[in-house]
Amino acid sequence: MSFTQTVEYLKQKGITQPEFGLILGSGLGDLADEIEQPICLDYSEIPNFPVSTVEGHAGELVYGQLAGRWVIALKGRFHYYEGYDLETVTYPVRIFHELGVSKLVVTNAAGGVNTDFVPGDLMIITDHINLTGANPLIGKNIQEHGPRFVDMSHAYSAKAIEFLAQIGEKYQPMKRGVYTWLTGPTYETPAEIRMVRTVGGDAVGMSTVPEVIVAQHCGMEVIGISCITNLAAGMQATLNHEEVIEVSQKAKPNFKKTLLEFIGEYA
Ligand code: 6GU
Repeated sequence: MSFTQTVEYLKQKGITQPEFGLILGSGLGDLADEIEQPICLDYSEIPNFPVSTVEGHAGELVYGQLAGRWVIALKGRFHYYEGYDLETVTYPVRIFHELGVSKLVVTNAAGGVNTDFVPGDLMIITDHINLTGANPLIGKNIQEHGPRFVDMSHAYSAKAIEFLAQIGEKYQPMKRGVYTWLTGPTYETPAEIRMVRTVGGDAVGMSTVPEVIVAQHCGMEVIGISCITNLAAGMQATLNHEEVIEVSQKAKPNFKKTLLEFIGEYA
């Protein structure tokens, strides 16, 4: 992959000093609308950028100031289940890195596996489990970005987790838990959900983990938040994407306030 063309294009568009990278999941892209004096670019106009296909994912990159900090946001991410390879899924993270991003905020809609969770909960991701067997770092290592073998002991910043949890107490106290990545696009079976619970997962989803792995490779500090939009299979009657979007819409005001304050205040 040659990142140069993409990076030069974005710099020439005025994206010069992003500190935070934001990857906003299903129904949670609105935070990018709060960005002041935004530079907005359709993915389709960015050289080498993939184009997003799923409904509820806008496919736009937005740069500007949010709560006084320079941020670059992806409204709509690329999913493995759409057929993109993981190099493509994680391409924007490497571009963020090359633009100077040091802190990555990733959000997603996820199914609740932990029986203490209810739809509408916000879960700070404390760790993850990759149940796909896939990994975005398989292949020739990009030595300029990071080492061949990557330590995942502190993939989610403990300092950021505590700081975010504190802010959450003001608006909507957040849960904490382990995010489990499965490929989708099927939701899991009830037996698979029992397995996820047995192995230590608190939530399930179809995204985020590849981006976090690459962010870790690049040495970024990561904070992840799941919006628990529904309970997983076997814990509620049926599952559908409409419900995922609907519940994420309801959780949005608190989610937005919490994240805005986090971005403004996090050192
Ligand atoms: Cl139940 N499973 C997965 N894999 N992703 C989800 C979900 C469930 N609910 C929202 N996203």
